[in-house]
Amino acid sequence: MEQKIPVAVLAATGSVGQRFVQLLDQHPWFEVVALSASDRSVGKPYGEACHWILTDPMPAWAANMTVLPTEPEAIHTPLAFSALPADIALSVEPAFAAQGTNVCSNASAYRREPDVPILLPEVNAEHIDIVKTQRQKRGWKGSIITNPNCTSTGLTVAMSAIQKAFGIRIAFVVSMQALSGAGYPGVPSMDILDNVIPNVNGEEQKVEFETRKMLGNLVDGSIELADFGISAHTNRVAVSDGHTVCASIELQERVEIENVAQALAGYQGPEISRDLPSAPRPVIQLRSESDRPQPRLDRMTGKGMTTVVGRLRPDPILDLKMVVLSHNTIRGAAGGSIFNAELLVKSGLLQA
Ligand SMILES: NC(=O)c1ccc[n+]([C@@H]2O[C@H](COP(=O)([O-])OP(=O)(O)OC[C@H]3O[C@@H](n4cnc5c(N)ncnc54)[C@H](OP(=O)(O)O)[C@@H]3O)[C@@H](O)[C@H]2O)c1
Repeated sequence: MEQKIPVAVLAATGSVGQRFVQLLDQHPWFEVVALSASDRSVGKPYGEACHWILTDPMPAWAANMTVLPTEPEAIHTPLAFSALPADIALSVEPAFAAQGTNVCSNASAYRREPDVPILLPEVNAEHIDIVKTQRQKRGWKGSIITNPNCTSTGLTVAMSAIQKAFGIRIAFVVSMQALSGAGYPGVPSMDILDNVIPNVNGEEQKVEFETRKMLGNLVDGSIELADFGISAHTNRVAVSDGHTVCASIELQERVEIENVAQALAGYQGPEISRDLPSAPRPVIQLRSESDRPQPRLDRMTGKGMTTVVGRLRPDPILDLKMVVLSHNTIRGAAGGSIFNAELLVKSGLLQA
């Protein structure tokens, strides 16, 4: 790309916002020209407003940038990455989209809208076309495209490989979700130390809906939800990063477990997604050890973008069971949004 595309990060000081700043450092296509946050941070240098919690140091260019208000009047970029809380995103993201900004959002506010895609380029890149309907219907020059909640992310990649090869009838899934998924400072230490919390607010409904939307078919500009049953339990555990999901699945047809292993290990995303700068390499890593994947050992596979699957075996009630691991703030949040923005550019849809 001859000239980099100027981009903004909205809510750049939080857990996901910091990941955006880290992952956009030296990005081959995008250059960060604006960082925004709440009134608490506006006007301060980013280095002062942001309590940096990542192990890589804060990039020097970011430390010196002044934090801007999260308003379209203050920021005019063709692309903005949103790490806004959902209630704020509800009014702010459409205002940006109306002025011509394409918002790649982590927030849940618009994921259920029929004209807003939930994208994983290695799963449903073709759903990006809904942006055309969205612009037409809402009169926007820009757009809102979303990535799924971080628990659905790796699970849907693994389910996609299985769904495309054999069809899925039923999925029963149980998550063990990392602390960084709750933002910063997140869950109080006195609540989570020596403990498991058997609820992550709203997450079960998100997993049960978003997986079906992403694995659904695009028909006449809207999505028909995939026709399988799914039940989710979601739990918070004392892991820093990396969401683990145990899944039992019933297939449309009976197959040997070796065939499922081949479908997972050999899975390739749609052609358009494969060479994008943030594409996971490989898309899925299938592990054969009896004690993997583990968050601490496996979350950075493929720079945190690869979905790691292990413990694949027959299920005595349904057909198969497996364990899926995905990095929640990289593949499940900032890295996923950047991957989506790359798909938007490659699809020629950055401009209306
Ligand atoms: N963490 C994950 O793994 C994950 C994964 C997928 C999706 N998400 C979603 O991503 C979003 C961000 O999550 P997070 O974990 O980064 O949360 P977080 O660590 O709590 O950060 C919240 C951010 O929002 C900003 N903010 C708060 N109120 C604002 C306002 N009125 N106007 C503008 N900015 C405001 C904060 O700025 P100040 O610092 O100035 O207060 C901060 O930058 C949420 O919608 C979350 O559900 C998170």
